Amino acid sequence: MSIEIKTVGVIGAGQMGSGIAQVCSLAGFNVLLNDLSEDRISAGLANIRESTARQASKGVISASDHQAALERITPARSYNDLSNCDLVIEAATEKEEVKSQIFTALSPSLRPDAMLATNTSSISITRLAAATDGPEKFIGIHFMNPVPVMQLVELIRGIATEDPTFESAKEFIGRLKKTVTVSQDYPAFIVNRILLPMINEAIYALYEGVGSVDAIDTAMRLGANHPMGPLQLADFIGLDTCLSIMQVLQNGLGDPKYRPCPLLMKYVEAGWLGRKTKRGFYDYRGETPVPTR
Ligand code: CAA
Repeated sequence: MSIEIKTVGVIGAGQMGSGIAQVCSLAGFNVLLNDLSEDRISAGLANIRESTARQASKGVISASDHQAALERITPARSYNDLSNCDLVIEAATEKEEVKSQIFTALSPSLRPDAMLATNTSSISITRLAAATDGPEKFIGIHFMNPVPVMQLVELIRGIATEDPTFESAKEFIGRLKKTVTVSQDYPAFIVNRILLPMINEAIYALYEGVGSVDAIDTAMRLGANHPMGPLQLADFIGLDTCLSIMQVLQNGLGDPKYRPCPLLMKYVEAGWLGRKTKRGFYDYRGETPVPTR
């Protein structure tokens, strides 16, 4: 039997978490948004207001749906505030120890029948499930960035995920009007297994001097019809996230073809993480992005 979902908790109010909260509230779910501090929750809510205003101004949503969606999102200051949720989606930093700590601390606050999902873009669902007290109700629900625009959601079962959890998650994604693709629980699943080595290869091409930032991005935009060049997309995803995913592929599959490019590591070490820190393969501090190489 599938679980009826009415109230959704979202942990992490960053780029992905705020997007997930937005699409859930627009689909009519009550949403509780949690993060480490009041400031982070407020920043997430501001993102949601900006993105829904953009949708309203383009007529994608009506003014009344816009207002109602904003009213359905409530800040959750502690895990106890999530005790009434039917489903909680974790969208914190892409670090296994951070996610595991959240699940261990959160589990006692949840209703025994509540489902728990992770938006991890690469980490083993089976291993993350082991940090919860209900691996049969745990699943991977992986949204793409920008969540309000991208049609796809990957669904990944851990070894212990039971059928009602899987069916409920599928139904839930259908209510968000998004398309499900099912991936087995292998490092980085389907999209990132294919996308991240392509991005890493683009960074190698830059590192080896095959082309400039502009040449590489123009080549892939106009030569392969990608909406963004791979370096622009890397900045958009976040270079720290790109590096984490390459490390999961490298450690999980053991093939040297997945080694992260030293230039990617250097940018991350410099704190040049892409758009979110205003510097990455492009410098975003001025009016228009300027290539850094
Ligand atoms: N909220 C609401 N609407 C948004 C939005 C947001 N955050 N961002 C863009 N939009 C809307 C715009 O309003 C616009 O709507 P209309 O078509 O109605 O005008 C539409 O999306 C297109 O946006 P723009 O005109 O501003 O710009 P664009 O045409 O360059 O498109 C883009 C922007 C949709 C992001 C496009 O560049 C794109 O598809 N890029 C690739 C994105 C991608 O590959 N994402 C996957 C990343 S990998 C991932 O997420 C997995 C992971 O785990 C790392």
